[in-house]
Amino acid sequence: MSGEKIDQMIRSSVMEDASSLEMDSADMDSAHGPSGYRGLFKCSNIFLYSLFASLGGFLFGYDQGVISGVLVMRDFETRFPRIGGNGDLQGWVVSIMQLGAFIGALINSPLADRLSRRYSIAVACVAFLIGSVLQAGALDNSMLFVGRFIGGIGLGQISMGVPLWIGEIAPPNLRGSAVTLQQFAIASGIMISFWLDYATQYIGGIGEGQSQLAWRLPFSLRVVPAATLLIGCFVYLPFSPRWLVKVGREHEALAVLSRLRKLPENHPVVQAEITQIKAGARFDALTIKEKFPNAKTPAQIAYQQYKELFTQRHLSKRLFVACFLQFLQQFTGVNAIIYYAPKMFKSIGLSGNSIPLLATGVVGIINVVATIPAIGIVDNFGRRGVLMVGAVFMSLSHFIIATLYAIYENSWAENLSAGWAAASFVWFFVFHFAYSVGCISWIYPTEIFPLGVRAQAMGIAISVNWISNFVIGLITPIMLTQIRFGTFYFFFAFTMILFLWVMFFLPETKGIPMEEMDKLWGGNEGKETAERMARIQNELQCESRNIPIYSKTSSYSDEVDIELQEQY
Ligand code: BGC
Repeated sequence: MSGEKIDQMIRSSVMEDASSLEMDSADMDSAHGPSGYRGLFKCSNIFLYSLFASLGGFLFGYDQGVISGVLVMRDFETRFPRIGGNGDLQGWVVSIMQLGAFIGALINSPLADRLSRRYSIAVACVAFLIGSVLQAGALDNSMLFVGRFIGGIGLGQISMGVPLWIGEIAPPNLRGSAVTLQQFAIASGIMISFWLDYATQYIGGIGEGQSQLAWRLPFSLRVVPAATLLIGCFVYLPFSPRWLVKVGREHEALAVLSRLRKLPENHPVVQAEITQIKAGARFDALTIKEKFPNAKTPAQIAYQQYKELFTQRHLSKRLFVACFLQFLQQFTGVNAIIYYAPKMFKSIGLSGNSIPLLATGVVGIINVVATIPAIGIVDNFGRRGVLMVGAVFMSLSHFIIATLYAIYENSWAENLSAGWAAASFVWFFVFHFAYSVGCISWIYPTEIFPLGVRAQAMGIAISVNWISNFVIGLITPIMLTQIRFGTFYFFFAFTMILFLWVMFFLPETKGIPMEEMDKLWGGNEGKETAERMARIQNELQCESRNIPIYSKTSSYSDEVDIELQEQY
């Protein structure tokens, strides 16, 4: 039996059980309502929950952005001569945060599975708060380093936990838009931290008398959104219904789902979705149980799940895609601009004290503004189209900047308009990054993995984002000095790779329910799989009709449920 056939069987049984209404896949999608802004306003609770959780993205952006302004503040330079100004430890104090985040993204997988997506975000906020307090109160270099490292761990966890949670609460028609709110929040965090640094540098004056508040304040203010998110994890955000099903709390999952969809528990759409989620979760649990009968403890199961990710072809394919997308997102060179924009603007002849900083401020604003249409389009136009359009314009920008740089590198002063043209293409690049790969690289990994390995896979993918971010932070200043205009040809090459790779290899995921992603990757093929699916389908059909299940197969899922409850 083909995978597709099985899916159809599950789907038709689901529909039958739910209401005896006849709904096919397209009906299901439209039953969830419109996508984009219209959908978000209609599903206001999904919008508000996602927006609130995106405070995590705000922290991410704020933390990335705040350091560049602080490093050049007079009082900071005086207190930390090896870090501020041109200090020899500067690169490290910036990048130790990314290293922490790399670790944070990885360790969040077991936490998100064991504690829940929601509480793993709370743990992340605590780490972030500790890091922030250490940085704001830093008396010496080591306090700053430790603070940035611990804060970075929290940030890595947040950057993985928030999109994971949002992706799991959103209906398929709004998943892209809802996760895009995180990118919107990242961009807002970068922009606000930049302008805040710009304002607080005047506390006590920008010269000798500058107050230490000038830098301690921007470091401390982030505790406000972090503490708000922490409290919200306990009093506002619901559990992910998919996580609840995964740990065997199916009744709660149904209640949460009905609240999220603003529909009664017995509504056909809610029933269809919960049955689909249950089928996916049971399938994963049963697969592990049958393939690895000796894996009993959560650690053994987690180990097998990690192993599966690398050894099962359909999973390793997805893992590669998720990681490569993260890698390419960073190698578009966006952070070369975010971190080094003032330096770049200076080098292309925009002189004067405030012009490079203001030009950088414009980067921040464009980055936010360009994310706004993305919220409306990713679920309408699909991931591939948006990525390809973005990649074409990003490559074009890099190509033009590189060429202008090559021609005018020794004569910017006499060719001011060439400098402004190059600056405009830096802004043009940021615009096209923000709505395309900026958003989609967060959406894609949340949606392509089966529930059983989703947290692990996301942890790995997001850690690739952070380690690539780290590499870019480190190599950009070297490239700008050594290969100069070649730096932009280098990024041009990667944006072209992004375009070609998406065009030829990346499958479209728009509107596909998470539990049906297997179809795209060949995950539900094979005889064994077909039998397993059929057994689950049989059970779910019986359950939803309240028929006691006496068949031999039923004991599988009962056992799996009991085991899951014991584990958690
Ligand atoms: C990236 C960050 C980048 C930001 C810019 C995010 O999607 O992961 O590294 O600084 O976008 O807006």
